[in-house]
Amino acid sequence: MDSPSPFLIVAIDGGAASGKSSTARALAARFPFLHVDTGAHYRAITAEMLRQGIPPEEAAVGRALADLALGTRVQDGAALLEIAGRVPGEEIRSPAVNAAVSHFAALRPVRAALLQYQRGQAEVARSHGFRGLVMEGRDIGSVIFPDAGLRVFLHADPEERARRRAREGQQDSIAERDRLDSSRQHAPLTCPAGAIDINSTHLSLDDVVARVAALVAARLSPP
Ligand code: DC
Repeated sequence: MDSPSPFLIVAIDGGAASGKSSTARALAARFPFLHVDTGAHYRAITAEMLRQGIPPEEAAVGRALADLALGTRVQDGAALLEIAGRVPGEEIRSPAVNAAVSHFAALRPVRAALLQYQRGQAEVARSHGFRGLVMEGRDIGSVIFPDAGLRVFLHADPEERARRRAREGQQDSIAERDRLDSSRQHAPLTCPAGAIDINSTHLSLDDVVARVAALVAARLSPP
């Protein structure tokens, strides 16, 4: 008798506009796996701190986080972070959040709260009957799930990434965010040893998805 396929965790990391979200969404729909966008978690917390007028300082943010009830809503194949029962909307992609998110994401209490929360998403995926989890971010393969069945690191030339953001109509200093995200003390953006590094500068989204999908398929049904 065939043994059931293992539950697979796929970690997709990369800088801003590296193609992580489009790739992760397409993969999640194909297998189907639960999709988790951890950038949206940092954005949601940043939007909430800005709303409350809290500066990006450890003590103040730590106190505010202790009062925040974080939950999860599974909707259309994705797990969405709820804050006090509400999934934040498009405000998490505003220029104000783009400019502030790397500063909040560098703080230890923010990372500690989201580490536990994000690891818990594997159980959310299992309990909803998904065959796996695709989680995208900056430290998924290095810190959140270092033992993930597949770890992919996407990168692309800065000019190409800036063009992608401009096509999305977004105002976002991606080079500055990458600089802050890569140089911070806790869980910096890095390609962890053993991850599969893909340069997407000259690849279409379909090409990237096809490459990663082949890696996923090989892990779901090993020869
Ligand atoms: O993926 P994104 O551009 O939406 O992420 C927004 C910010 O969140 C990013 O500049 C840094 C932070 N982030 C992080 O520190 N760790 C993650 N795993 C994901 C995002």
